[in-house]
Amino acid sequence: MDRREQERLITELIRALGTSLKNRRIYPPTHPLVRTPVEQVYKDILLFFADRSELALVITDGTMVLEGVPIFSLTSSLESFMERLGRIGVPALVFEKGLMPADIDNFVRFLHGTKEQGLPVDRIQELLAQAGVSHIRVKPMEKEEEDDQTLAREIYDNAVSVVVSVLKDVRLGRIPSGAESERVVKDMSSMLTRNRDAMLALTLIKNFDEYTYNHSVNVAVLSLALSDALSLPGQEKIDVGVAGLLHDVGKTQLALGLIKKPGTLTVEEFEEIKKHPEEGFVLLGKMSHIRPASAYMVREHHMRFDRTGYPRPEPGYRVHPNSHIIPVADCYDALTTMRSYQKARSPQQSLDIITRIAGRSLDPEIVTLFVKTMGSYPVGTLVRLDSMEVGVVTSAGPPGQAPNTVVVLFDRNGNPLPRPEQVDLVGAESAGGTQRRAILGTVNPNMYPPPTMGALASAVPA
Ligand SMILES: [Fe+2]
Ligand SMILES: [Fe+2]
Repeated sequence: MDRREQERLITELIRALGTSLKNRRIYPPTHPLVRTPVEQVYKDILLFFADRSELALVITDGTMVLEGVPIFSLTSSLESFMERLGRIGVPALVFEKGLMPADIDNFVRFLHGTKEQGLPVDRIQELLAQAGVSHIRVKPMEKEEEDDQTLAREIYDNAVSVVVSVLKDVRLGRIPSGAESERVVKDMSSMLTRNRDAMLALTLIKNFDEYTYNHSVNVAVLSLALSDALSLPGQEKIDVGVAGLLHDVGKTQLALGLIKKPGTLTVEEFEEIKKHPEEGFVLLGKMSHIRPASAYMVREHHMRFDRTGYPRPEPGYRVHPNSHIIPVADCYDALTTMRSYQKARSPQQSLDIITRIAGRSLDPEIVTLFVKTMGSYPVGTLVRLDSMEVGVVTSAGPPGQAPNTVVVLFDRNGNPLPRPEQVDLVGAESAGGTQRRAILGTVNPNMYPPPTMGALASAVPA
């Protein structure tokens, strides 16, 4: 079988699985629209097994790779198939020779019926066995956790360089392409699905000199996390993310000194600043690969929920339904960032502030959802443990509950640990009988030097 034929078959195969999955939402399992694609898959797989005994399907970096061939022709059924796998937590699938139509059928039923998210590989394998699926196994990615951190970091850095290049083009009077922006937003979105904490932790990168770039990427990530919480459909989510990434692009038209000016602006200066949403709107309108929804969200990101912001909307003006997402992310990121005229607030203080301004500048429903999404101790919150040690939350845990993990940075006397230590707050108590530690409360971040990402990544489990 030549490569082109292989690629065609692969695409067909995944599409058939996706179609069957999609139709199952509407029709009973015995319906031809569910059955026929399954039989199609079976026929296709038989062709593959003529000269091999296994077929590996890996999802990496938001791309599906089957037997080393990336599948680029994404259809909606394919996307929904990938999304299901991603949500359940399946990193890689292996189809084995001997597979029967019943296995495929049960597998599709498993994909459709499994409501839990982010399951460990062993658990997925167990559920597959219970669902009567044989000859399809889940393969763990090697060094999964470490890979996720590295991957998230790569995606983040990539997004920063896209923002840098877009802004550079604009400053030079060129119209940048939106293709790269769309691509990095898709990457960030799949990374959030794959390992939300790894991606969210990076929004704590606060580089003072590069504020604009990091801020743009942070707003994109936080807006995407909010879009997930709102269960927005795939395309709408990408539109929101792209708008988040480019929301302040109109500021490039302003004098540099004005953007960085600390403290209060004069009336004239503020009039200048007020132009950036409209400038951004016009610019996005000219860029390729940018959908109108994103352009509208950029125009409307300072209109405020009570419509008293800028540009001031005409009385009958209809704001895009997703335009209330970015302002919440924008505000949160600005609050958690130290500026020359402002101390950085802790994630929790920032959540309190945005809760207070809900209903006026921010949409109260989105704010409530955001607070819930970030949890009581968002990733990045500095906390004091009952051992009197100080650490940073690295995995937030479910809303309303204690975080899963904290990396201890300072001992009980406030001295930094030479090797930060990761502590599990919810898992089983250690065999040595050491007591599980609990959180006493948050700590003022200005009292402690911020941890580096490297320190967090190299933390040793307790
Ligand atoms: Fe703005
Ligand atoms: Fe902003």
